[in-house]
Amino acid sequence: MKRFYLTTAIDYANGHPHIGHAYEKILADVICRTKRLLGYDVHFLTGLDEHGQKVEQTAKERGISPQALCDSVAKEFIDMCALLHISYDDYIRTTQPHHKTIVRTILQKLFDNGDIYKAEYTGFYSTRVERFLQEKDRVDGIWPESEFGQVTEITETNYFFKLNPHKQWLVDYITAHENFIFPKFRAKQVLEFLREDINDLCISRPKDRLSWGIELPFDSEYVTYVWFDALINYISAVGYGTEKFSEFWPVDYHVIGKDILVPAHAVYWPIMLHALDLPMPKTFLAHGWWLCSGEKMSKSVGNVVDPLDYAKQFGTDAFRYFVIREMNVGQDSDFSHELFLSRYNNDLGNDLGNLVSRNSNMLQRYCGGTIPEIATAEAPETELIGLWSQTHEKVLHGYDRLQFHRALEDIFTFIGAINKFLEIRAPWKLAKSKDPREQNRLRTTLAASSEAIRLAATILAPILPTISQQILEIFQIKAMAWGKQLDWNGHNLANQSLGMESVILFPRIV
Ligand code: ME8
Ligand code: MG
Repeated sequence: MKRFYLTTAIDYANGHPHIGHAYEKILADVICRTKRLLGYDVHFLTGLDEHGQKVEQTAKERGISPQALCDSVAKEFIDMCALLHISYDDYIRTTQPHHKTIVRTILQKLFDNGDIYKAEYTGFYSTRVERFLQEKDRVDGIWPESEFGQVTEITETNYFFKLNPHKQWLVDYITAHENFIFPKFRAKQVLEFLREDINDLCISRPKDRLSWGIELPFDSEYVTYVWFDALINYISAVGYGTEKFSEFWPVDYHVIGKDILVPAHAVYWPIMLHALDLPMPKTFLAHGWWLCSGEKMSKSVGNVVDPLDYAKQFGTDAFRYFVIREMNVGQDSDFSHELFLSRYNNDLGNDLGNLVSRNSNMLQRYCGGTIPEIATAEAPETELIGLWSQTHEKVLHGYDRLQFHRALEDIFTFIGAINKFLEIRAPWKLAKSKDPREQNRLRTTLAASSEAIRLAATILAPILPTISQQILEIFQIKAMAWGKQLDWNGHNLANQSLGMESVILFPRIV
């Protein structure tokens, strides 16, 4: 079986989960579910980034140990994943011993190879982004407070990882591999960053300034820089240094937000891997940001969207639907409560939910609770079947190209067409006729609509896993196998008795 390995960013252990964290995991989950359905052996890694100055500071403010802070934050994030039905295979925490051991092995290896050296350095440090800033980070001569928070000048002796020897190689690699960075326009940003000389990466912090980190194996006065530690999670979690490692590496997708693409993921990480003689990740998938009324979410503005509130009030799948439907992967998107309500009540409630309950009610009333057989397909059925074959091709293509919002649009166009088909066929009128031809039409209509609903539920499964399953259970039918055989096959459903009583999938909320 072909392996597919995907990672998300590991979240900072100094805050609470917000919609950005939730979205990234849902996006990753949707990709993994599509790959599983297509027969891949998927390994889905996510986790928590537990070291660094911010965690140390927050713990101090709360009067608890950094580890106690991490443990409580880990619980919150893991609970969020459970609520959102994130199907991860492994959850890494960077305080786990196996991770720490591998970070130290790698540091020692790079040190022995001469890739790391010690020097005195004066620079401007931002705790917000946990790094020394570069001249090119300035905007109009200053480092914007909104991005970097408070910036302090520091002089220190530290260890540095050489970046410049790899610079031209990286430029050439990015230029030659057009799938390395998604969306493509972001590759330009990386190349722009690489145009000038880059400072070597400071990979240590003296323990008197920061003690919450992994100690350097070659100097016990220092711990390693949090990003250096964090990036390594992608290989430590899958057994770097063991035989199994090559089954996973190179990773297929590193799913991250656009803010951590440059320089951490697209510059530091490839160079670290190159220095270690490891193959490059296949694709960095940099998604956009959720904004609120066009503004960055922030605690001080008070516009942070709590994903848990939405998932609890409207259901997990409704929340998954909304974020995937609204976000064009790679672009930013605006969260608004009004839009959420409208998608919930219209798309999910009216279009999908009503279709399911209407169809099952009619099967009960007119067909004794059993799915009938298509007698003779006429124009309306033929059209619906034809629309399905276009739809499923477009949707699978959309899934493959990360165009999930378009795929949902296509699926809901198909759902709209099923509703229209029922309006045209009007089973409630056909049922009044004693004419055997009209009786045949009635059965054909409900056979066709049931098959269409089954196919829609099948193809919705990666995004609405619970609802999709519920729909199939109502009709006591199985999902189709994915792949090329996702074809109309209504006869297989004939004589199936309905399962559970019809339920309201999306109760109207105003
Ligand atoms: O950056 N919309 O952690 P983090 C969409 N620990 N995505 C958002 C977002 C928003 N409003 N806000 C944040 C870190 N994100 C590091 C990563 S990886 C080796 C280390 C995304 O908790 C953000 O882009 O600040 C990132 O991908 C993820 O949430 C975690 O952010
Ligand atoms: Mg962040």
